[in-house]
Amino acid sequence: MPEPAPTSEQQLVQVQAGGINFADIMSAQGGYPGTPKPPLVAGREFCGIRIVDGQRVMGYAQWGAFAEQVAASPQLLWPVPEGWSAEEGAAFPVNYFTAYFAYWKAGLLDSDGNKSAPRVLIHAVAGGVGTAAVQIGKLLGIEMYGTSSSEEKLARVKTLGLQHGINYKQRDYGEVIKELTGGEGVDAVFEMLGGEHTARSIRCLRDFGRVIVYGAATGQPAQVDARMLYAKGASVHGLWLTYLSAKTELMNQAWKQLSVWTEQGHLRPVIGDVFPLEKAEAAYRLLMERKNFGKVVLKLN
Ligand SMILES: NC(=O)c1ccc[n+]([C@@H]2O[C@H](COP(=O)([O-])OP(=O)(O)OC[C@H]3O[C@@H](n4cnc5c(N)ncnc54)[C@H](OP(=O)(O)O)[C@@H]3O)[C@@H](O)[C@H]2O)c1
Repeated sequence: MPEPAPTSEQQLVQVQAGGINFADIMSAQGGYPGTPKPPLVAGREFCGIRIVDGQRVMGYAQWGAFAEQVAASPQLLWPVPEGWSAEEGAAFPVNYFTAYFAYWKAGLLDSDGNKSAPRVLIHAVAGGVGTAAVQIGKLLGIEMYGTSSSEEKLARVKTLGLQHGINYKQRDYGEVIKELTGGEGVDAVFEMLGGEHTARSIRCLRDFGRVIVYGAATGQPAQVDARMLYAKGASVHGLWLTYLSAKTELMNQAWKQLSVWTEQGHLRPVIGDVFPLEKAEAAYRLLMERKNFGKVVLKLN
């Protein structure tokens, strides 16, 4: 591929590692909104050296990260926290900004200290966004319930602070939520499955609860009958980092908080597997087959 030609508003980064996202898989399958006509270089987050000043940065871009060099907007480049590897830097932007904005959309960033801990159900809790949501939820004092297909994955997320693991292969998560919350339900559900799960997640809510819809890993569009929302005054909110990443003020506010937490050592990306670029296919497959824990990273240099 030719080297990227940065616009006057972009900076070049020598890429060391790239984080793999579900969006990369959907792009390869041709189902991600806005995907340019192939051939194209995939990869939406990375860690590397900014060529203009030699600084270690982690960054977000829509495309082009799985290459020796990427052109990126300086607003979407952040300094790599002290002591982090390139793999950890590459695993940060998508997972942590998305998880942070999920709490923001759920109205749970500033929970009222006098009230009991807000409850959140996190689907795919052992995945990239899921593990980031658990680390942030712990800091916010959230009572967290998380779904996964595997006991082993659930046991590992519990070490990060998840209080209640639900193996959806063994139990109906809606029933478990009912049991564990004394029939009340949760304040928010982070929902990235789509299909029937959006409606099932709405049923898990308590009064005035919110489902934050941010993906469709089942490949099915969310099935929602808005009449379900009348009872309990419930609501469904959309969240898409691609869109929010263009809102500089919002991104800066999020980074202000996230950078404090990373400096204090409270947030650290969970890396499940690292593959060389030549093994990208196997890396994608791991995510598709639900075998990943935390983030899957491609090592470039
Ligand atoms: N809107 C946004 O801005 C945004 C940003 C980032 C990610 N996302 C979305 O969030 C979701 C998670 O993304 P991620 O990159 O962090 O992936 P991930 O959670 O690390 O990996 C996907 C996990 O989802 C679970 N899963 C449940 N049903 C699945 C299915 N039918 N097919 C594949 N996996 C399934 C699997 O875990 P278990 O086996 O443990 O259930 C799998 O390991 C994706 O839907 C993605 O598109 C959206």
